[in-house]
Amino acid sequence: MADLRVCFVCLGNICRSPTAEAIFRSFVRDAGLDARIAVDSAGTGAWHIGEPADARAREAALRRGVAIESVARQFTGRDFATFDYVISMDASVLTTLRRLARTTDERAKIHNFRSFDPASDPADAVPDPYFGGTGGFDEVFEICEAGCRGLLEHLRGVLEQRDGAPAR
Ligand code: 4NP
Repeated sequence: MADLRVCFVCLGNICRSPTAEAIFRSFVRDAGLDARIAVDSAGTGAWHIGEPADARAREAALRRGVAIESVARQFTGRDFATFDYVISMDASVLTTLRRLARTTDERAKIHNFRSFDPASDPADAVPDPYFGGTGGFDEVFEICEAGCRGLLEHLRGVLEQRDGAPAR
């Protein structure tokens, strides 16, 4: 079992959180940490359960060499038992996650995605691209890359502290 388990959460689990999941998975793999960090994503809404990611998100990612392969699922309160980091893509998702968390320990697992990007305001949202044009998906990809870079650095620090030695 992995040392750290991360779940990215958006509304539909077909645009933003699958993009972050795929990027972060590739970063974790490149860092040689795939045995230590598990990565997943989910949506607070039920509209797209069982569907692949939005074709526009998959195409924007593929243009940058990243394959999005996730199938949409809905986040439930039980997921708090599985994950150490529950990472929200916007304020409305944060509100839903805080409602689903039953204990202070569960609430402490909730983070805003852009808070891991040192160049962002920690409260910024990843803009929802679903009802917009394809340009929105390129922007989402770039925002997700920056946040994932910061998240990897953060988790490396957590693993190093746990190990008492630098994590590979
Ligand atoms: P996501 O985008 O939360 O980034 O996956 C959305 C996808 C679908 C809907 C809203 C946002 N929807 O209303 O169906």
